[in-house]
Amino acid sequence: MQAKNPKDSRTILTDLVLPSETNPLNNLFGGELLARMDRAASIAARRHSRRIVVTASVNNVAFNKAIPLGSVVTVEAAVSRAFKSSMEIFIDVWVEDRESGKRSRANEAIYTFVAVDETGTPVHVPELTPETELETERYEAALRRKQLSLVLAGKMKPKDATELKALFE
Ligand SMILES: CC(C)(COP(=O)(O)OP(=O)(O)OC[C@H]1O[C@@H](n2cnc3c(N)ncnc32)[C@H](O)[C@@H]1OP(=O)(O)O)[C@@H](O)C(=O)NCCC(=O)NCCS
Repeated sequence: MQAKNPKDSRTILTDLVLPSETNPLNNLFGGELLARMDRAASIAARRHSRRIVVTASVNNVAFNKAIPLGSVVTVEAAVSRAFKSSMEIFIDVWVEDRESGKRSRANEAIYTFVAVDETGTPVHVPELTPETELETERYEAALRRKQLSLVLAGKMKPKDATELKALFE
């Protein structure tokens, strides 16, 4: 399988925040944002693997900034590292200022998707080659995040998480 770059999977979803999607403070519901991020990440994982993909875990979500009613929200997702059958997807969320049009970063998240066949069995995906400095930074940290996610899920023993442990030594 030929390696791909993050730009091959880059997925951009832009949409408004409507009244039915807000909390009593008139800000976007966290669950609505999670759903938008899941959709964008799923498309990115599909573009990278060209297979059926399922969400395996949500590794990190930082709701740094409330997103008010009426905002134009852009969710940008791309594969940040591919392993055997799993892919880490990095998601950046931007909000656009109505008057200036300037975008500011509101949130970010990291999801893991797994490519599967029609029976739900994991299948191999192409490798990922980062190109920019940011893509390389995300690529290099992805193995530690995978190990942390597996340890928290009880699927890996902490003693086997070599790269993750090295952070604390
Ligand atoms: C995700 C799923 C396919 C993994 O199946 P599994 O039997 O655990 O398969 P494996 O142990 O071989 O794991 C497959 C890959 O997922 C990774 N993985 C599994 N759980 C993970 C987790 N919690 N965090 C990070 N990666 C995980 C494994 O490390 C492995 O990666 P690799 O092949 O790149 O090395 C399976 O658990 C599943 O189908 N879950 C339900 C998915 C779903 O319905 N999602 C919501 C709706 S889309």
